[in-house]
Amino acid sequence: MESRKDQHVRLFQETHQKHTNDFDSVKFIHDALPEMSLKQVNYTTDLSFGRWPVPFFINGMTGGSAKTKKINECLSKAAAETGLAVASGSQKAALRDPELRDTFQVLRRVNPNGFIFANIGAELDGEQAKRAVAMLEANGLQVHLNAPQEIVMPEGDRDFSSWLKNLERIVRSVDVPVVVKEVGFGMSRATYQKLINAGAAAIDVAGNGGVNFITIENLRRERARFDYLQDWGQSTVISMLEAQPYIDQTVFFASGGVRNPLDVLKALALGARAVGISGTFLHTALAEGKDGLIAQINEWKEQMNQIMLLLGCSNVQALRNKNLILSGAPFEWARLRGPRPEALATRSGKGTEKA
Ligand SMILES: Cc1cc2nc3c(=O)[nH]c(=O)nc-3n(C[C@H](O)[C@H](O)[C@H](O)COP(=O)(O)O)c2cc1C
Repeated sequence: MESRKDQHVRLFQETHQKHTNDFDSVKFIHDALPEMSLKQVNYTTDLSFGRWPVPFFINGMTGGSAKTKKINECLSKAAAETGLAVASGSQKAALRDPELRDTFQVLRRVNPNGFIFANIGAELDGEQAKRAVAMLEANGLQVHLNAPQEIVMPEGDRDFSSWLKNLERIVRSVDVPVVVKEVGFGMSRATYQKLINAGAAAIDVAGNGGVNFITIENLRRERARFDYLQDWGQSTVISMLEAQPYIDQTVFFASGGVRNPLDVLKALALGARAVGISGTFLHTALAEGKDGLIAQINEWKEQMNQIMLLLGCSNVQALRNKNLILSGAPFEWARLRGPRPEALATRSGKGTEKA
């Protein structure tokens, strides 16, 4: 029988398409005089738990079957070659069945020195979290929150009452930084406050606008589909707007629907310290293999440098000071819940009145 993970990858492939999303409703203001040279651009990013040479990473997806072992090998080799951090897919299956461990451990075998995240769900406990980290000799642990996916999954969980308590235990049990992530439905201020209190080292907002697990799980259902729920959740842009009051209190990662280097830069300008990419890179890995993915990542790095030059930003920190013009749904959301769109549009303090 096809494993659940193999089904997810197949349905991802069948439904993958590039579409517009809320990143299109965020614009930088062009300055015809950037007054800088490409030599001055440096996009390394500081996290509370280290410094990454590249401010984007390959987010958690696969493992648990022969096919996804190959995908993990491809993703991790590409990460090693390009200096990106890479995350594992959920290791729950391998915690139960030791025969599946190797489909995850390949991540470390082909990438002995890279930054690798282990990955589990918040239904697991501190002991299981420790085993997941040890399995990959991981540098960090992602804990995913996926309530909408569970609801639409016919065999999904129907009890989320222990997740926050589990999270607190997980944070206390492991000796690596814990990043709490969604899986494509985003987060809100109320969630951020709880995660900060629980001791998360970083929060990956993982908003909507890209891979949609309500669509994917719907296709696994024979009847009683939840098609009408497809727009559930907050986009990555809106989740980052929600993050503004907390931006100095914790490390935010932005992910969900990132299609190109400009989306990466917009997410960094909204305050993310690093940006996660799943669907876009998985699509390339499946279509063009490791060499195609390496070529794409190198192209993104080069183009990020060039667009930072165009923006007159010599580092990631400077992006957080660029004026941003919101429109559409993010504009309306910001009107109702902050930050004021006018404040974002004039935050650099330059060129607001006379220019
Ligand atoms: C095939 C597939 C499998 C995934 N499995 C996991 C997983 O096991 N754990 C997890 O935290 N997220 C998982 N995700 C979610 C991604 O990490 C990410 O949050 C989501 O795809 C949205 O980002 P994107 O629009 O860049 O794809 C998976 C995504 C895909 C496409």
